[in-house]
Amino acid sequence: MVSNMAEDSIKLSLDGEDIEVARGATLLDAAEQAGIDIPVICYHEATSPNGLCRICVVDVDGGRVLQPACVAECQADSKVETRNERVERSRRTILEMLNASVNLAEAPEIQEMIADYAADEARFPDANLREHTLIDDNPFYIRDYEQCVLCWRCVQVCAEDAQFTFALTLKNRGHDTSVATAFDISMTESPCVFCGQCVGVCPTGALKPKVQWGLEQGWGADEMRQKTRRGRKRNPEKTDGE
Ligand code: SF4
Ligand code: FES
Repeated sequence: MVSNMAEDSIKLSLDGEDIEVARGATLLDAAEQAGIDIPVICYHEATSPNGLCRICVVDVDGGRVLQPACVAECQADSKVETRNERVERSRRTILEMLNASVNLAEAPEIQEMIADYAADEARFPDANLREHTLIDDNPFYIRDYEQCVLCWRCVQVCAEDAQFTFALTLKNRGHDTSVATAFDISMTESPCVFCGQCVGVCPTGALKPKVQWGLEQGWGADEMRQKTRRGRKRNPEKTDGE
């Protein structure tokens, strides 16, 4: 079959530069192609984009609302500005709200964004930080949801995007929303297979390998061995050799 290049691609203007991209490309794809950096938080190349955090918004043709670049497709002959005053104000406000409700101390990429967009860390002095008790319920990783930005990446890699294990879900609503196991059972009781993919995609310190956590707590070698080893499951009905 002969492909028609003209039909497979479209042209648009990105920050004043004319570019040609594959039809169906997102604005984030186009920016990447043009070497333009757009900040992302919930987006990850290994997960399906859901447009949750809105840090990636850009201005398309001066439209009424800004478009999330990670999910919005490029439109032919459109004029896109990836970082004008309107876009900056929106990203700055998102960062200020995030900073007001989540402990971002161990989120270096978001810290860089806060500096880059000159976000005012004292913008919402009356806001409440989300409070969660650190969960240490398995030998492989800890969960500290005070540092969770609800990007949903961990939930997605645990589900259809990679592992098909479905150990994670969301509980509660609004300010109290949190990632959790179903019915809040411990991770060792859940379907989790401890593949570690959730830890790998987490953009903050919310999910951390137990060994790293132990080193930070000053554990010695014996304590580390003891606390990071999984007890063997044995069937009490069976005897050795069966
Ligand atoms: S635990 Fe990490 S990966 Fe999961 S939703 Fe929170 S910040 Fe995102
Ligand atoms: S990175 Fe696009 S909405 Fe989060």
